[in-house]
Amino acid sequence: MNQPIPIVEAALLTLLILVCARVGIGFLSDALQRHNSLKKELAVENSARIELSSRLRQTYVDLSMSRRQARWREVMVVKVVQESEDVRSFYLVDKDQEPLPSGLPGQHILVERPKGANSKGGCRCYSLSDDSSAGHWRVSVKKNSSRPESVSRWLHEEVAAGDVLRARGPSGAFYLQSAVDRKIVLVSAGIGITPMLPMIFEAIRKPGRSVRCFAQFRDVAHMPFIDTLSSIATHYAQVEMEIWISRFPKGVRRSTASLFREGKFQAKDMLSHEGAQQNSDYYLCGPEEWQEKICADLVEGGVRSEFIHYELFQQSEKSIPVTPSSKYASHNVHFKQSGSIAKFEATHNSLLTCAGQHSVSLESGCRTGACGSCAVKLLGGKVRYTREPQFQTQTNEILPCVCVPESDLEVDA
Ligand SMILES: Cc1cc2nc3c(=O)[nH]c(=O)nc-3n(C[C@H](O)[C@H](O)[C@H](O)COP(=O)(O)OP(=O)(O)OC[C@H]3O[C@@H](n4cnc5c(N)ncnc54)[C@H](O)[C@@H]3O)c2cc1C
Ligand code: FES
Repeated sequence: MNQPIPIVEAALLTLLILVCARVGIGFLSDALQRHNSLKKELAVENSARIELSSRLRQTYVDLSMSRRQARWREVMVVKVVQESEDVRSFYLVDKDQEPLPSGLPGQHILVERPKGANSKGGCRCYSLSDDSSAGHWRVSVKKNSSRPESVSRWLHEEVAAGDVLRARGPSGAFYLQSAVDRKIVLVSAGIGITPMLPMIFEAIRKPGRSVRCFAQFRDVAHMPFIDTLSSIATHYAQVEMEIWISRFPKGVRRSTASLFREGKFQAKDMLSHEGAQQNSDYYLCGPEEWQEKICADLVEGGVRSEFIHYELFQQSEKSIPVTPSSKYASHNVHFKQSGSIAKFEATHNSLLTCAGQHSVSLESGCRTGACGSCAVKLLGGKVRYTREPQFQTQTNEILPCVCVPESDLEVDA
């Protein structure tokens, strides 16, 4: 028979239930809180992991593309456009209508001049100058040599629409690689404008990208792409464009507010803007001495050197060691594949010159350590670089265009 619960016991039981419920609720709410904060941590960790993996993937893509030694292909010239007094653009498509690899904005291709009556043949690098999503390649070449061997002269004087050329690429370590929240400052002189154009096209595709563009030209006769630059400046508010003309035409109103400025810009013109030291990435392309000066002034003005990227089209005569020191003279170089043993002499300014003079044919493009086309495996010995190469070599690989032996060498060529 059920006995009624005495009042005291009932009260104690109720109290016990309440305490248990309270502890339970507290426990549950603690657990819920812990669960929520764990969920948040996991979400943060997850997004960091995703960002990291996408960054790694991007780095991998960038590295593999910057190193890419794409195959030689036949390309057809479909259009030739005179851009200024001495610059001509060549529009190229694959001869067999295959899609051309687009490359990264700022990269270049190699164009080969075939052997002929006036030429032993050779190749040179040309930056892609059109939007990298255009589907074709466009190179814009300045005619800057009167040598019969000159590739730019040949392109200007002998190549026309309908001709088929051999070209390879795109490749190169100079390309737009800034994080989205960083300002891009594109700084060029003369024909150095070519790699900047695809970078501008890429940047204006992304909303919120801030671009400053400083372009230096000699005079109005030597201002390629001026219509394109003016049109970008007019239509894209995120682009600040300054076109500087050394010899400003007479009779034109000089206004600092306008797109066109008289004279030559200096690093201080770039540094006067907010965030110029910390939040901006600089991309430079122009003659070597001009580039060195701007670079040194930017660094002196507080820009960290890792924020400055540059492309060198041609080595100035001054940086070529005409009389190499006896320290790296007279070493034996064994070119293993061709079975030739050459003596590296004090008159050779690079291993590439030495190879050429001993009929060992090594491919070359820039001769400044930028394009990687001369890269070969070093099988034995030690080399010294006469200028720091921009192209990232693989283990045991060397760039003969910018190095000299420091001991006897064995090279896989
Ligand atoms: C990454 C990169 C991108 C470039 N982009 C452009 C561009 O967009 N537009 C443009 O007009 N130019 C560009 N150039 C410069 C271009 O590659 C040529 O240097 C330029 O056209 C002059 O070549 P040339 O044969 O007419 O002149 P040359 O006076 O005949 O040769 C110029 C230089 O080529 C080197 N060279 C290479 N092979 C040989 C060889 N076998 N014998 C002698 N010299 C040799 C020498 O250093 C020589 O000083 C770029 C260069 C580089 C490295
Ligand atoms: S020729 Fe371009 S890196 Fe040597």
